[in-house]
Amino acid sequence: MVEGVQVGWDRIRESFSLDPAIAYLNHGARGAVPIAVQRAQQRVRDEGETNPIRYFRDLPDRIAHTRRYIATFLGADPAGAALVGNTTIGAAIVLQSLGLRSGDEVLMTDHRYGAIAFTAERECRRTGATVRTVGVPLDADDDEVTATVTQALRPGRTRLLIVDQISSPTARLFPVEKIVAAAREREVPVLVDAAHVPGMLPVSVDSIGADFWVGNLHKWAYAPRGTALLSVAPPWRERIDPLAISWQQHSGYPARVEWQGTLDYSPWLATPTGLFFLRTLGAERVRAHNADLAAYGQRVVGAALGLTPEELPDPGSPRWRCASCRCPRHSDDLRGGGGSPQADRARACRRRGSDVVERPWVAAALWPGLQPPRRVRPAGRTAARLPAPTPLSGWPAQPAVMESRPTAPGGRPGGPVGRPRGGR
Ligand SMILES: Cc1ncc(COP(=O)(O)O)c(C=O)c1O
Repeated sequence: MVEGVQVGWDRIRESFSLDPAIAYLNHGARGAVPIAVQRAQQRVRDEGETNPIRYFRDLPDRIAHTRRYIATFLGADPAGAALVGNTTIGAAIVLQSLGLRSGDEVLMTDHRYGAIAFTAERECRRTGATVRTVGVPLDADDDEVTATVTQALRPGRTRLLIVDQISSPTARLFPVEKIVAAAREREVPVLVDAAHVPGMLPVSVDSIGADFWVGNLHKWAYAPRGTALLSVAPPWRERIDPLAISWQQHSGYPARVEWQGTLDYSPWLATPTGLFFLRTLGAERVRAHNADLAAYGQRVVGAALGLTPEELPDPGSPRWRCASCRCPRHSDDLRGGGGSPQADRARACRRRGSDVVERPWVAAALWPGLQPPRRVRPAGRTAARLPAPTPLSGWPAQPAVMESRPTAPGGRPGGPVGRPRGGR
């Protein structure tokens, strides 16, 4: 395997189909699929159209081979791994396999992902169980996070703890190993929502020790959309049921979870090409690039929100790839009605014809993207709609990999043009 071929970032942009006019930074929501991976997926589809019977006959073996490859990449026991369409499906499979009953509860933190919370709520409505949420302060350190979550467990009643490995609204790295160990002592099973982990972090799923772990490969691991891995600890495997039953129902786990009749399995079969792409670029190199970009974005958004560097949450580690900013709590300011610097910015934004949207979260997560940005703007949730600070208001320092261009195309005062130099 070639690890980290030194290709300049500008050349890497050519490996994607993205419109060159946009700086795509939102791999956290939808990862961009490299052209090589798109082609690999198309070749699989072509096979299915050329000889559908042979294609479907060979599929179970090919899926099993792909599952083993992906599980090994993530450090998960291949016998406990199942390919699923996405993290939400994986969580739904786990929740409905638990056999929840009235009086049971599912515990989550307030950093949880919305669709996962809805999934837990639906299962609890169906079974008479309840969902409880524990608040975890944004700036708590790992020990505080572990203690807060552990104290909220009610052994004998909490039938599942769902904890994010990397949270979506707050871009926080959770100490999942410590949380899982503490929950295990109290005999509370844990589902780790690792939607953002594959490709983003070097991970060994088995060493986390969770009962259930599920992560997407279509965000940061260059897989086609619709590819996630669910890993299940041995005692649970035979209890895991698919959401919809198909012909492999009596083949045991994982085949009965994976096989969904005539669905399109081409995203899974093309995923090894995505992992090859990541390894060829050099996973650590990509991660270092993204860490710089996220730290830079945090400073830019912080400045747009009128925050001082001291008010920016510590992402936890200089090599951490995401960052967040606490958004102003006062909706009046965000709507431009108050008298704060945020209100001034919101009014300026209106004058330029942009809306300011308010989200219920007090933190804006920043997701970096491998794509070298052509023009870095404030990014994130609420902040995405705030105006770019002009040179007069002062730009935060850019990371060494960025070039600065003080004037935006068209002669308007603009922000920095974040264009990482090639060959890092
Ligand atoms: C923490 C977290 N969990 C779950 C999901 C859901 O992922 P999917 O839509 O692929 O199921 C996301 C999506 O961004 C997420 O950020």
